[in-house]
Amino acid sequence: MTFDPTRDDLSIGIIGAGAMGRGIAQVSATGGMTVKLFDANIQAAEEACEFVGKMIHRLAEKGKLEDHEAEAASARIEMVSALDALADCDLVVEAIVENLDIKKSVFKDLEAVVKDTCILASNTSSLSVTAIAAACEKPERVAGLHFFNPVPLMKLVEVIGGVMTEHWVLDALVSIGERMGRVPVVASDTPGFIVNHAGRGYGTEALQVVKENVADIADIDRIMTQAAGFRMGPFQLLDLTALDVSHPVMESLYHQYYQEPRFRPSPLTKTRMDAGLYGKKVGRGFYTYEDGQAQMPPDHPTPDLRPASVWISPTDPEARDSLAAIAKAAGVKVEAGPTPSKSALCLIAPLGQDVTSFCVEHGLDPARTVAIDMLFGLTGRRTIMTSPLTPKEVAEQAHGLMGADETPVSVIADSTGFVAQRIIANVINVAADMAQQKIASPADIDKAVKLGLGYPIGPLTWGDDLGAKKILTILTNMQTLSGDPRYRPSPWLRRRAQLGVSLLSEG
Ligand code: NAI
Repeated sequence: MTFDPTRDDLSIGIIGAGAMGRGIAQVSATGGMTVKLFDANIQAAEEACEFVGKMIHRLAEKGKLEDHEAEAASARIEMVSALDALADCDLVVEAIVENLDIKKSVFKDLEAVVKDTCILASNTSSLSVTAIAAACEKPERVAGLHFFNPVPLMKLVEVIGGVMTEHWVLDALVSIGERMGRVPVVASDTPGFIVNHAGRGYGTEALQVVKENVADIADIDRIMTQAAGFRMGPFQLLDLTALDVSHPVMESLYHQYYQEPRFRPSPLTKTRMDAGLYGKKVGRGFYTYEDGQAQMPPDHPTPDLRPASVWISPTDPEARDSLAAIAKAAGVKVEAGPTPSKSALCLIAPLGQDVTSFCVEHGLDPARTVAIDMLFGLTGRRTIMTSPLTPKEVAEQAHGLMGADETPVSVIADSTGFVAQRIIANVINVAADMAQQKIASPADIDKAVKLGLGYPIGPLTWGDDLGAKKILTILTNMQTLSGDPRYRPSPWLRRRAQLGVSLLSEG
């Protein structure tokens, strides 16, 4: 099929002039294409045209477009009052209500109107592109073109190939996406596509940590922002997206993947949703909101206590050196012997293991052994893990030691893996499994997660940076100790870690 996406006079039809249709119209017009905007509700289409015109004008005011460019872009948008008016379009993007039957009926009607070479795309975020295409005589020219809200600000667009979609259609949509100033990534038609699928690792594991009473929500949010570098903690994010939206998405993804344990939702969000604790928009969620600001409980102050001496497990030489430096700076004696003295606080740095199992394995006293998370280094925020036998005084001495240089500290209960280890290992594992399933290329998975979810680093690159072997150890230990299949490592991760090659390497 010859389809030239670079043609100056490329014409795009948009069906649905709501939040998404407006944004798509704007980026299409500023990308140099002509736009025909149709909505079943004529008033909605009129308002959308006016709105988009204003937004383009504002771009000129901010100096992002020349005046004449803004004028030309606005002039390229036309409101149409019937589907027939889309007859000469090269591409039609549908952005109507998220309902499969209604979308199928619109695609069927549309096919009777447009020319044979016209590409039909849906902006659906949760329906199967293949199922929509099944309503068409030519499903091979139907694809997904999934933008993010607000379209002009969110650079990412997912180009989704259904089972019958031909390659030229995806190639053309990638080029058109680029003309719109977007960053296109190509995904196969699977539940959640890339972004909504990859996002499962973060909140789901954070909820599991809370369910096990390992740490409270504010500590988890502080650890994930201050130690791991996320812009928002998982509970801050759940409050922002609102539980009446995100809990049904968690349930839907879980069922669409036929009860995949990695995506198992938490009863916690269901009960909180039933209670109406949706999040920021209603002023009450995991946090209470005053003037739109989450009321975080105050951080735990660092006790002015120190242990008499510390003994650091030699199992991780790198951790040993860094922890010894912290102890020395705090004026605490570091014992050099192969075993601890009777009064020493023992420091260990396990991966995916709890204090209990480490102590049993290495013959240490669990009442005076605490674990320190070294995965993200010791800057930002430090996490100390205690055992069920740790006396309060020992926990406070450990806190006093690790916070002596004013670095904030979280003290958590015994857990198969620290908070940040568990959550990031899951984020990386979910992304690795998406690569294994060839839902998208490893590079596109990373690009989509960074741009679509705002993570500081793409998950596969992150796995390489932290060390795929370490992530594999965390997951393997977690799976062994918990017996929970949600932690089984993806073959993509295991093989690359074992072979010592990048998680981004294909093949
Ligand atoms: P919206 O409710 O703001 O706008 C939908 C528009 O479609 C309305 O103006 C409505 O009058 C019109 N419409 C409904 N049925 C129609 C029909 N049969 N023919 C013509 N026009 C019709 O919805 P929104 O948020 O813009 O979403 C549209 C699509 O984009 C949905 O499939 C949604 O899942 C998807 N999406 C939404 C995102 C969001 O954050 N809002 C993000 C990504 C995708």
